[in-house]
Amino acid sequence: MPKISKKGQMMPESPIRKLVPFAEDAKKRGNSVFHLNIGQPDIKTPQIALDAVKNNDIEVLSYARSEGSEAYRIKLAAYYKKNKIDISEKDIIVTTGGSEALLFTLGSITDFGDEIIIPEPFYANYNGFSTANGIEVVPIVSSIDTGFSLPEIEEFEKLISPKTKAILICNPGNPTGYLYSKEEIEKLKALVLKHDLFLIADEVYREFVYDGMQHYSIMSETGIDQNAIMIDSVSKRYSMCGARIGCVVSRNKEFIQTTLKYAQARLSSPTYALLASEAALETPQSYFDEVIEEYVERRNTLIKELKKIKDLKVSTPKGAFYCIAELPIKDADDFAQWMLEKFSDNNETVMVAPASGFYSTKGSGENQIRIAYVLNKESLIRSVELIKLALEQYKR
Ligand SMILES: Cc1ncc(COP(=O)(O)O)c(C=O)c1O
Repeated sequence: MPKISKKGQMMPESPIRKLVPFAEDAKKRGNSVFHLNIGQPDIKTPQIALDAVKNNDIEVLSYARSEGSEAYRIKLAAYYKKNKIDISEKDIIVTTGGSEALLFTLGSITDFGDEIIIPEPFYANYNGFSTANGIEVVPIVSSIDTGFSLPEIEEFEKLISPKTKAILICNPGNPTGYLYSKEEIEKLKALVLKHDLFLIADEVYREFVYDGMQHYSIMSETGIDQNAIMIDSVSKRYSMCGARIGCVVSRNKEFIQTTLKYAQARLSSPTYALLASEAALETPQSYFDEVIEEYVERRNTLIKELKKIKDLKVSTPKGAFYCIAELPIKDADDFAQWMLEKFSDNNETVMVAPASGFYSTKGSGENQIRIAYVLNKESLIRSVELIKLALEQYKR
């Protein structure tokens, strides 16, 4: 039989999706499952974006430009300017989701065997994108006890080797909900300049910051034009995960030219989704105000309920819509599966993402889960109640 590549065999399973078959079985047995495992918001997509797809007279559904139309990129640049990010449309390559932006970025800046340093826990698919590009993730631990703040710069420095190409951060963080401060970004800036590295910031949750805090983008920093690369997406901003549109932004011309070659190789992003994404830029501020208010309430509800569980540790997220909870058990992978296979209360159970997949250090995060607060408050309260009941019954 022809052989699958080593790379293919090494591709990690998604910790967010790997328990899906168990959830499906639970449903077949007549249970309803609260999905706290995946960052698929239940928030309505702006009508203006949906209407752009419905009300158009396209007769030939043609390819779009590989880098995205100039009109869309000019509007995107204006959106960034409103967010204190002064870039030109020439600094943008439109991609098929933030996922493709990450793939293209790693493809453009790394060679086989290169290393990127990432504070962990991190968005699990960074592992997959790195494996696909034949590069090593070098994790640096951030701790639940500091709310997952930036690890000491000296600790980063210890990990830098001749193979290190970049530091990758997610701001605000998935799965931690941590929001990096301007000071932390400036520390990273000094470090990447000192060691001539790229600084990649995944800012797909930019809008989702709470408690009056402000998001500070690496693109707002001066003096790192050659180093800074920003990843972005419409998925979460407009609750348009299915559109599959994102972009990569950098003032480094050589990087953009290289990324464009990747974009040309895949021809274009989907035309209908581009229409919707361009229209979504007209979304009024009131939409975001309402969405943020809803997420703050959900976060507050979730954290309040979780804190009622004995011996559970959780840090209050400042942004995005996830939190990591440390449970009074040894093996959260087993617990999460057990909740789907063996546990239910009134024919209801919960699906969470075991956090071990968000770490690349073996043995880390084994007693932690990631919770996405993408359900309404009542569902969140019931979900935490189910977790509490499950912990009481779980004996391993
Ligand atoms: C941190 C982070 N980056 C990137 C992505 C990729 O999103 P998409 O490809 O839908 O734009 C996600 C999706 O959940 C994410 O959480």
